[in-house]
Amino acid sequence: MKGILLAGGSGTRLYPMTLAASKQLLPVYDKPMVYYPLTTLMLAGIRDIMIISTPADLPQFKRLLGDGSQFGVTFEYREQASPDGIAQAFLIAGDWLDGCPCGLALGDNLIFADHLSVSLRAAATRPEGATVFAYQVRDPERYGVVSFDETGRALSVEEKPTNPQSNWAITGLYFYDHRVLDFAKAVKPSPRGELEITDLNRFYLEEGSLRVDRLGRGCAWLDAGLPESLMQAGQFVHTIQARQGMLVGSPEEVAFRMGYISADQLRTQAGRMGKTELGRLLRELANHA
Ligand code: G1P
Repeated sequence: MKGILLAGGSGTRLYPMTLAASKQLLPVYDKPMVYYPLTTLMLAGIRDIMIISTPADLPQFKRLLGDGSQFGVTFEYREQASPDGIAQAFLIAGDWLDGCPCGLALGDNLIFADHLSVSLRAAATRPEGATVFAYQVRDPERYGVVSFDETGRALSVEEKPTNPQSNWAITGLYFYDHRVLDFAKAVKPSPRGELEITDLNRFYLEEGSLRVDRLGRGCAWLDAGLPESLMQAGQFVHTIQARQGMLVGSPEEVAFRMGYISADQLRTQAGRMGKTELGRLLRELANHA
């Protein structure tokens, strides 16, 4: 399976912070925001990753992330010329996907859960259909919303409904089978002029192959789209790292634990982080391996 990390948009709700910088490169405590969804894709076992961003921001992503070898993965870069919707990512990546199944992570979505990698790997290796993750929120009207029948089967998916049928929001993490490009080509622009990911999900729902994994109360799904939620996300990461001494959202750590890089390579990455706390934690990890 290949993966797409979508880091486009103009981040207007974070102005003036995003007037001159990409939202997905803003710090979430001690790392750029994009590190978090990147580690989610890596935990799913995905190593071929295309990063899609605006023409103005893409060079900064290249500068930060390079070719991916430092994390034992491969990065490709492509521009999204204008923000025409999330489902457009598959059209942009079409030739590169070359008929492969694909995972998609939105660059501003942070998911933390115990044993998350187990469900991620299951989603990434499912041969047919699509898998999305749902999370209960207070303000479902801000998101894609899924409703369920009494047996727990997904009944409807709607994008930012005025009258949500449930409080289960669909998170910005999606796994699709090899037909995703064909489905994406069939998506028509919505009233707001975007190729909605929810319309793509509806194709799978209608043929009965959309699996919705519900994330329980022990999980945290944070989106960092507003000044307040950006700060909350940073505080969350800080709380866990300070209390447990465990890293959250470190692609270096995930690469090492997944066996993509050696202890020596991890030490090199730790060295690049200098005297930071992150560097210290990575060094410790390499030395105690
Ligand atoms: C997008 C999707 C929405 C999803 C959300 C998750 O919303 O359209 O279905 O629930 O991401 O973050 P947007 O970020 O475009 O408001």
